[in-house]
Amino acid sequence: MKLTAPVIRGRKRRDGATPLVMVTAYDEPGARFASAAGVDVILVGDSLANVVLGHEDTLHVTVDEMCHHVRAVAAAKPEVHVVADMPWLSYHLSVADSVRNAAALIRSGADSVKLEGGRVRREVVRAILDAEIPVMGHLGLTPQSVMAFGGFKVQAKTREAAQQLQLDAKVLQDEGVFAVVIEGVPSVVGTRVTEALEIPTIGIGAGPDTDGQVLVFHDLLGLTKGSPAKFVRQYANLGPVITDALAHFASDVRNGEFPGPSEVYANPEDLVN
Ligand code: KIV
Repeated sequence: MKLTAPVIRGRKRRDGATPLVMVTAYDEPGARFASAAGVDVILVGDSLANVVLGHEDTLHVTVDEMCHHVRAVAAAKPEVHVVADMPWLSYHLSVADSVRNAAALIRSGADSVKLEGGRVRREVVRAILDAEIPVMGHLGLTPQSVMAFGGFKVQAKTREAAQQLQLDAKVLQDEGVFAVVIEGVPSVVGTRVTEALEIPTIGIGAGPDTDGQVLVFHDLLGLTKGSPAKFVRQYANLGPVITDALAHFASDVRNGEFPGPSEVYANPEDLVN
């Protein structure tokens, strides 16, 4: 059964809930596999920019591109809650624009939207919620802030920064977001924010105590270029498997071994006599 935003909101581990499992997906096969694996939430992440479209950061995807991939994920009809990332600049220019962009993602097949930032997003979060669209927050190493942060750097490393992050999380909760992603922070920060909130936290590089965990599909399957981040556990190494299969195909074609007799259509009598 697909989890709704209100059901996810109640999934606190301290109240006995099992940890939430979120994974990214960007297309029909990815969503189909994630759904078959029984994950709780599929995130159509703006990591689309890095892991699918080959950009260096997430700043290079548009609402239209996100909608295109949300439609592909929705085409799998996953029995899973689908969250769509609001890409950079889709909620920074005006409140009306932000609501329209969130609605475009919902009309493409998402069940909720996610956006990055804390207090500064208060007005936008409220407006999207007022339009009856559930919102997930995202704090910590927010990838859309890569230029402002001066790189992909662990956040909340001082007492003051950790307190600010906790304050941001509380503001998002008070506005009505149903869950918050906490990314790239010392694990004690993940623990404390989780303890401080009534809504679930979903961690990525935020330690073991958050109410759920999220990983990027391509990272956990060994499909990403370069070495994975410290927090990634690679559950399969499919990159070499795919390369081997493609190389095998290439050699079979070149050697005349593909297609074989069982891989061709029978010739009708009419054509061979
Ligand atoms: O876009 C994404 O994949 C994300 C996760 C890192 C949480 O936002």
